[in-house]
Amino acid sequence: MIDAAELRSALGRFATGVTIITTRSTSGEAVGVTASSFNAVSLDPPLILWSLGRNAFSHPIFEAASHFAVHVLGDDQRDLSNRFARASSAKFEGLATREGLGGVPLLGNCAAVFECSTEHRYAGGDHLILVGRVLRLDQGPAERPPLLFHQGRYAALAGETSTV
Ligand SMILES: Cc1cc2nc3c(=O)[nH]c(=O)nc-3n(C[C@H](O)[C@H](O)[C@H](O)COP(=O)(O)O)c2cc1C
Repeated sequence: MIDAAELRSALGRFATGVTIITTRSTSGEAVGVTASSFNAVSLDPPLILWSLGRNAFSHPIFEAASHFAVHVLGDDQRDLSNRFARASSAKFEGLATREGLGGVPLLGNCAAVFECSTEHRYAGGDHLILVGRVLRLDQGPAERPPLLFHQGRYAALAGETSTV
């Protein structure tokens, strides 16, 4: 039997980036969540994935959505990450958004944006796994420091990087 707290802790050893994923409900409501479960799947066809907790307010909306957008955050966007990680109906209040493919609200000034159509939905225990097909992308300068998440805390790149 795997202990949930121990599992969470061990998974936390895996450092990730941080994203905000947005969509719009069929009734027109903008929704968004902070997500570190984003990852690459395939280059050809261009596919990405992420997973969303079944208890999230936005779960039924993302499950039904034809499109969503993944915004990769820079290190200077911790406040934005916190805003979208809290249950609130005012996540978009005061934020300038543009309309993306499928009417999805797009946030400005992110490190990269992947506009996707929903390609697959899979049951993943207490999460829903969503696979998106990248239809359009946008990226800022490669030198911009990324926001990282490690062991339940935000982190920044430190020290030397080296080629693979
Ligand atoms: C850094 C970070 C990463 C997160 N990653 C995920 C994730 O991958 N999937 C998920 O369902 N929730 C994740 N969360 C939690 C959601 O952002 C949080 O539950 C949010 O309130 C969900 O929004 P909603 O209830 O409005 O749908 C993360 C939170 C933080 C701070």
